[in-house]
Amino acid sequence: MTLILGIESSCDETAASIVKDGRVVLSNIVASQHELHERYRGVVPEIASRAHLENILPVIQQSLHDANLTLNDINAIAVGNRPGLIGSLIVGVSAAKALAWSSNKPLIDIDHVQAHLYAASLVESNDQLTSQPEPQFPALGLVVSGGHTTLYQMNSPLEIQPIGRTIDDAIGEAYDKAAVILKLGYPGGPLIDKIAAQGDPTAYDLPRSMLKPGSLDFSFSGLKTALLYAVRGKPVGKGKNAIFKRDVEDLSNQQIVDLAASFQAAAIDAVIRKLKRAVNAIRSQTPELAPKSLVIGGGVSANSHLRERVKDFAKRYQLHLDIPAFAFTQDNAAMIAGLAHIHYHNNSFADLSLPAIATSKNL
Ligand code: KG4
Ligand code: ZN
Repeated sequence: MTLILGIESSCDETAASIVKDGRVVLSNIVASQHELHERYRGVVPEIASRAHLENILPVIQQSLHDANLTLNDINAIAVGNRPGLIGSLIVGVSAAKALAWSSNKPLIDIDHVQAHLYAASLVESNDQLTSQPEPQFPALGLVVSGGHTTLYQMNSPLEIQPIGRTIDDAIGEAYDKAAVILKLGYPGGPLIDKIAAQGDPTAYDLPRSMLKPGSLDFSFSGLKTALLYAVRGKPVGKGKNAIFKRDVEDLSNQQIVDLAASFQAAAIDAVIRKLKRAVNAIRSQTPELAPKSLVIGGGVSANSHLRERVKDFAKRYQLHLDIPAFAFTQDNAAMIAGLAHIHYHNNSFADLSLPAIATSKNL
């Protein structure tokens, strides 16, 4: 049996988790800082790193306590060291190094984005191991988060190659900005998801950007601007001098929920269209890489509409769908500890010079 302690602090969640044999999550502690950042309508890096410093040790202690274990029982310590906010990453990386050094355990470095693609393999108890099989490879990967909207060709959990990505905003970022336009709060994704259920997704015709024929890239900035104009009308003047005729206070509640539903329909539809394009292209151009599974991860994989649409899509295209349980969609450390199991068995360890890295190469 292998027990790995995972640590995650790349953005505004301080998290620690213990995972058994790469799949069974024994504890999953996430201290969210959303309240601290809400009034700024986005993450303030300096506030985030200070909060990580306060939270990191209690969160690690709680993860051991919940799993009924002590540090002695742990085989290795894994940390998400890339990509993310540098000041936030440094807190998790320093804590992991200090623990590894003082307890004489191996240290494992994990890429946060790769870990999101591993989250679907995690289960909450032993008996779910058989009912929730692991992805089959080759697979098509999709990370939809606050920082990423990227499609991957996956040959294994560690061999992943990006084949399409957003050229402007990430989908989660677009959700958060849409919530600012609709004056809903932060983070916007869950709030839009909730009110969209009461709205008519066909009420407003918002754009689904497809980019060039054959392109597997995404673009969400046009959708965001279209939503802004639908709410406030076309502006008179440009840039800072632009004057809008109206604002969200001038709309009825029904109009606001219709706008949320129409925004969500357009954003998710754009993702589904690109998934279709990707599967068709791979099947016809490189049949030997044709995906058997569709592997999804990242905060936006919690979205109820996305979950419904990808379920239909996977069924229609005869793909095995691997989407994380709700608890493992958002930033968490279980995905870090789970993926680290593969590195552990490959004897792939980091040393105490391990840096925090703001942008990870190629992913
Ligand atoms: O993966 P994550 O926790 O952090 C990053 O690595 O970015 O993703 C956070 C993003 C935020 O933009 C948040 O608004 C979005 O995921 N999100 C959602 C939902 N829950 C979280 N977006 C749409 N629908 C949701 N239910
Ligand atoms: Zn993330």
